[in-house]
Amino acid sequence: MTLPIETSSSSLRSESACRGGALGPAARGHLPARAGVGLKPQHFQDILDSPGELGFFEVHAENYMGAGGPMHHWLTRIRECHPLSVHGVGLSIGGQEPLDAAHLARLRILLARYEPEAFSEHLAWSTHAGAYLADLLPLAYDGRSLRRVCEHIDEVQMALGRRMLLENPATYVEFADSTMSEADFITEVVRRTGCGLLLDVNNAYVSAVNHGCDAAAFLAALPLEAVGEIHLAGFAVDRDAAGEPLLIDSHGSPVADAVWTLYEEVLQRIGPVATLIERDHDVPDFATLAAEAGRAEALLCRMAASTAEVCA
Ligand SMILES: [Fe+2]
Repeated sequence: MTLPIETSSSSLRSESACRGGALGPAARGHLPARAGVGLKPQHFQDILDSPGELGFFEVHAENYMGAGGPMHHWLTRIRECHPLSVHGVGLSIGGQEPLDAAHLARLRILLARYEPEAFSEHLAWSTHAGAYLADLLPLAYDGRSLRRVCEHIDEVQMALGRRMLLENPATYVEFADSTMSEADFITEVVRRTGCGLLLDVNNAYVSAVNHGCDAAAFLAALPLEAVGEIHLAGFAVDRDAAGEPLLIDSHGSPVADAVWTLYEEVLQRIGPVATLIERDHDVPDFATLAAEAGRAEALLCRMAASTAEVCA
């Protein structure tokens, strides 16, 4: 399909108002190849006090779907000085039923308001028969679900007038009915829809350990040329019914060494790409989280230098 033209008006942002000059020309239209963190209310003032320390911020779309209130007040101020990624968790791209038109309309309004450099959603489902579930659930990778996911992404991209990024999931079960690997499924979705890939390296590691697969081989099989953003996060370790290790994508701890290693391997393949540290539980103070993002930023800078690109 042919995607609609993406608009990049900067009417919302005033670069002169940003003391740190965090939002440079290279940031407009796409995320800069820098490190960012998920935006948390307890960090709002710290961020305003240190513009430019981090390369971008990411918000969950569903936290900003009301018309007003303090969350919009803060996000508007932070957005004036920083690139932004909006990450949806409620579209149920992998669901069997039609997309929720009202939810999609709310997303359209939100994206028009903040004009983020990136918008992403998950390869998962969370609604069925009118029920809204709290989890991002896996789907069978077969021709039927491939057609449905592509139809849903086509609808999203047309409705929003922009390319979206699709995030690879963390999974805990696999379906006997699947006829394709997850990497082949995602590759075909990207090819058919023109969407980009939000590569969650922690999700790849969690799924690989849970299913006894090689995470590096999985990552190598993905359409890495389509990566528009990377997620890094921490996981929790549990045990399944057989007593085997079961990793949970918890977002409640620092990024694990094994995930950092995979991340470096990805950067060596594709060069520097905007990288987010996801932390949704046991959120540390801003300095601690920024320091973890700094580790990603150092790798991005090293990679940019080795590829003769300019590092912000
Ligand atoms: Fe993620």
